[in-house]
Order: sequence, then C-alpha cells, then structure tokens
Amino acid sequence: MMFMFYGMRPEEKEYVISWSQQNNVQVKTTAELLTADTVEQAQGADGIVALQTQAYPKEVFDKMSQMGIKSLSLRNVGTDNVDKEAAKANNIRISNVPAYSPNAIAEFAVSSMMQLLRQTRKVIQYVEDGELKEAVALVGKELSAQTIGVVGTGRIGKRVVDILQGMGAKVVAYDPAFHQPGIDYVDDLNDLLKQSDVLTLHLPGMPATEHLINEKNISLMKPSAYLVNAARGMIVETRALINALKERRLAGAALDTFENEDELGKAMAQGHDNQDSDYQTLKSMDNVILTPHIAYHTDIAVHNMVHQSLDSAYQFSQGQNPENEVKF
Ligand code: COI
Repeated sequence: MMFMFYGMRPEEKEYVISWSQQNNVQVKTTAELLTADTVEQAQGADGIVALQTQAYPKEVFDKMSQMGIKSLSLRNVGTDNVDKEAAKANNIRISNVPAYSPNAIAEFAVSSMMQLLRQTRKVIQYVEDGELKEAVALVGKELSAQTIGVVGTGRIGKRVVDILQGMGAKVVAYDPAFHQPGIDYVDDLNDLLKQSDVLTLHLPGMPATEHLINEKNISLMKPSAYLVNAARGMIVETRALINALKERRLAGAALDTFENEDELGKAMAQGHDNQDSDYQTLKSMDNVILTPHIAYHTDIAVHNMVHQSLDSAYQFSQGQNPENEVKF
C-alpha cells in the first residue's frame, strides 16, 4: 500500500515518518502541489493527500479517475478550492481535517486584535527608524474595554469567544446558521457592524459568504473600528476595505487571508513577494497587518493535519467511511 503526499513542507516530515512507521504503510512525498501536471506522480497510489490554497481543478479529478485513484484527503479544513462537481462526477471521495487546532487560529486572531489595538506595526517601524519619540507617543487601547464582534461561531469562532470572554472583553456574535449557549447574538449583521470596536471573521468561504463585508455595509462600522480576517479572503470585498481605510472610515485591519490566494500561493512557492496590486496597497498602509495565511500554523496543528489526513486516506483505501469525509 502507498499514499502520495503532495505539497510537503519541511515541518511535516517527522509526522509523515511517524505515521508511516506506526501504520507500516509507505508514504511517497513531494513538495510539489497537486496539479494536472503533477498528478501523474501518484501512479500506483492508494490515495492522495494534499495541502494547498491553489485550486484542485477538474483535470486533476479526471486524471485521478483514469489512474484508478479514488480518494483525495486534504490536510486542512476549507474545501472552497475543490472543484466539487468534478470530484463527484469522477466518484472521488474527499476528506478534510475539520478541527486540527481551532485554538491555533483563534489565538492568532486575538493576537492580531491586540496588535491593532496597541498599534504594534507603527511602534516597530518607529523603533526601526530610530524615532523613539514618535513610538512612545502612540496610545493604545485595552482589549478588555472593547466590544468585539465575532462573525461565525463554529469551532474557531467559539474558541475566539472563549478567549475574549476570559480576557474580559464584551463579545457579541452573529451567526446565521446556529447559536451556541453562553454567547450574546444579534440577528442582524448590520447591528454587529455598528457596535463593534473590532470585527473578527470566522466563516467558511462559500457563495453565501462572498463579500459579506462590502462597500455598502463597511460604512456602518465605526471610524475607530478594526477588522480582522483570518478566515477566507473572499469574505471581504478588498476594494471596499481599501477605500474605507484610505478615507479613514476604518482605523485598521489585520488580514491573514486575501481574495486572490492563488497569486499569494504562487508568490510563496516561487519565493517572491505577492505582486497583486491590492495586496501591495494594503502592505503600504501602516495601520494594516498582513500575514500570509499562517494563522493555523502551529506544531499541534501540523501534527494533527498530517496524522488525521493519512488516517482518512487509509480508511478510504479500506472501503471504510472516515469520520472526516466531506459530502458535497
Ligand atoms: C484551512 O485549514 O482551511 C486553512 O485555512 C489553512 C490553510 C493551510 C489552507
């Protein structure tokens, strides 16, 4: 038995080896991403395991089917980059890792809020430029004195709420799908936008969440408010955000995800900066913190992503129904 493991990162290697030894199964690895050109490397595999923000297009599923490979196990949560129709048409079963570490992303989002509230990017820049007088003149805000609006209270959003409540912040949430006990909800997203000092997004990327924050409703936010997006770039209309920041209708933003993730992924793979012009505009703003989709990236998360995805691949190969199978 053999599984083909795409997009391997150096930090995953020890967990691939430990899973392979524990299960006595060969795992063939490549740093290359899964594309129509690289899929042939999986010839003879009993399943494919992959991690990437770039698309999994129809051609990949067509070729997998021709090669007799029946499953694709993602090492991450989001399935927004999967051509679901093509996977279905080719009878390729998909799994993800829905809870490798909700805490990793939640902690990152809260840390982003704190950096915005304390103007950390500006402070560091002033210190680097030797302008200490300017650095000490910046006045921060305390998280515990803020109203934080949490959009989406699934595993990650709920963890964000827990951390924030523990820190003494006032938390209000909006979730169109379900309500959890112990959280104050509003029924209308606009109400949340109006009252939040910080708005943090924790929804999946899908047609219903595309541009949920847009030109029309971003203007409801307080000019002193901050936006945090460690979920999916498509949830925020980037141009609306840039306009609001330029016109000082919003105080700042921390973005770990971008609308154009394909471009970011290519830039990272090729070792150069993201040339996307909106990204460059945001990068030039000292009230914006940009990070390249790393909120999930902790040692605990990496271990769970590798082991749980390989577990699912193994279960598929045995004709079983993995708990993490994604049904479209
Ligand atoms: C996810 O798990 O969906 C993420 O956003 C992580 C990323 C590596 C794709």
